[in-house]
Amino acid sequence: MHRLTVSSPAKLNLVLDVLGKRPDGFHELRTIFERISLADQITLTRNKTNKISIRCAHPHVPRGSGNLVFKAAMLLFEDFHISDGLNINIIKNIPVAAGLAGGSSNAAAVLSGLNRLWQLGLSRAQLVNYAARLGSDVAFFLYNTSYALGQGRGERIQPINVKTKLWHVLVTPRVKMYTKDVFSRLKLNLTNKKDNVNILLPFLRKGDLGRLAGALSNDLEPAILSLRPDFIYLKKKLLDAGAMGVCFSGSGPSVFALSESQKHALSLRARFDRRYTQAFVVNTL
Ligand code: C5P
Repeated sequence: MHRLTVSSPAKLNLVLDVLGKRPDGFHELRTIFERISLADQITLTRNKTNKISIRCAHPHVPRGSGNLVFKAAMLLFEDFHISDGLNINIIKNIPVAAGLAGGSSNAAAVLSGLNRLWQLGLSRAQLVNYAARLGSDVAFFLYNTSYALGQGRGERIQPINVKTKLWHVLVTPRVKMYTKDVFSRLKLNLTNKKDNVNILLPFLRKGDLGRLAGALSNDLEPAILSLRPDFIYLKKKLLDAGAMGVCFSGSGPSVFALSESQKHALSLRARFDRRYTQAFVVNTL
């Protein structure tokens, strides 16, 4: 095989509970990931250059070793003594540094894509090991599942077998917010100590959208708002426009609404002021 194109979807966190800070500096999490239809497209092309090159039209995507896809490819290059060159072309649709794990998803797509392109024969467990070396959110994208429980740093994945499909409006301000900065502002004594995963899960299983809407939660919200107090307006505006429930995703600043249907999501988006934001209608993949 010479060339391979793969889709690289974004995620939302329906719940994000922070349990505590670990000796390694990371935070212990329990989160429910949802894979959504907003996706980048990645094309891997073998060449004879003996180098890894990245092509992407988006101005905020690094083209060199600062990009997680470069690091992902490099790990496999070194471990498997690959003598080929590789071009990674990224069509970027997922907003960058927005709490949607676009970069992590791209890295996972490169790991599993190269496993196929170079016929490395790596098992999922081996790919997950590589993923954990790249970042906390990478492993989720190696599982072909709509929803999963993430534990540890977020890298320990248990797929959740649920048939419910959700519709959302996803709103992303045109501002980057870095995970590290958000976690560093977190005041653990202020996080609610409820088991929000187990509160939400039965509603997700039953497809009880009303209760699901009330059970969305994210312990990082106060830290996100401490960086940008004005972003509370995103939640308020979506609720005013008729959203069933709203929540920040990951370390923000993206906010998503739960809607009753595709039609409801489209009308919500139409009512949302998009001057300072990007707004997408997305559904569970
Ligand atoms: O794992 P990742 O590289 O995406 O994490 C970026 C930063 O976010 C980490 O360096 C850490 O400061 C913070 N983080 C954390 N606890 C997690 C995940 C991320 O403190 N579970």
